[in-house]
Amino acid sequence: MGHRGQMHWTDVFPYLGEAEIEMLQFVKTTQPFVQHTFRKAIVILPRKNQSTMKPLIYIFCFMALFSSCANSQVVGESLTQFGQLLRNRRSIRDYTGEPISRDTLQRIVSAGGFAPSSYGQNPVEFVVVEDKSKLADIARSKRIGAPSVRAGSAAIVVIADTSKGELWVEDASVAAGYILLAAEECGIGACWNQIRDRAGQHLSASDEIKAILGIPSRYEVLCVVSLGHKAENKPPRTEREQNVQQRTHFERF
Ligand SMILES: Cc1cc2nc3c(=O)[nH]c(=O)nc-3n(C[C@H](O)[C@H](O)[C@H](O)COP(=O)(O)O)c2cc1C
Repeated sequence: MGHRGQMHWTDVFPYLGEAEIEMLQFVKTTQPFVQHTFRKAIVILPRKNQSTMKPLIYIFCFMALFSSCANSQVVGESLTQFGQLLRNRRSIRDYTGEPISRDTLQRIVSAGGFAPSSYGQNPVEFVVVEDKSKLADIARSKRIGAPSVRAGSAAIVVIADTSKGELWVEDASVAAGYILLAAEECGIGACWNQIRDRAGQHLSASDEIKAILGIPSRYEVLCVVSLGHKAENKPPRTEREQNVQQRTHFERF
């Protein structure tokens, strides 16, 4: 077992060689949607006969890579890693409950810090929450609820210092978008939970979250990004390929 209960391939598949472990690692990092399947497989596989395992692992890896190539063919071009990432990102609301490593959380939240901001004022800040009872309180602070926040292993509360600029909504939205993409790149499921202009139980959802987390009054909460290891696999939305073209206008509408 690795840091904070993370599995290492060698713990799970001690009978695989270095090249085979590298293949698994490659499939896992390039095809984040298979990560949950691997996690499930990890529970079942080691109990089976080793001689049947190796071919199954090979078949699984080739299928994952083939499905990725097939997806690229849909748009008739070979996609860059970023293009594939854009297509793979979906709102994921069901999580396994496994903790997210501190390194991964750090990578995800720091992506938000690289977002551009109006006049370079950087009014956006982030509160990372892992405490389960705080996650439940935050979920409850939105009157209609935020079930994915309660279900998540962590959440990033995206806030902005409103004294630093009138365009804080835009600034914080760009940062939240970066966070969603960074989560996908790390193979972590994420979902935007709207907080700005949403009612809470007594106050606004934003004010209730500020009270829970001790956030000063000059800040506003834009959204809470729930995070967790994926317990649902959503395919890329292939219909968007065409839809994006229909919504794009060159030179004039
Ligand atoms: C501004 C904004 C607000 C959203 N608010 C919520 C929300 O409060 N709760 C939720 O579960 N999803 C929320 N979402 C996620 C959308 O429902 C989701 O992006 C949309 O259905 C498209 O699905 P996809 O992200 O899987 O492509 C929000 C997304 C955006 C961009």
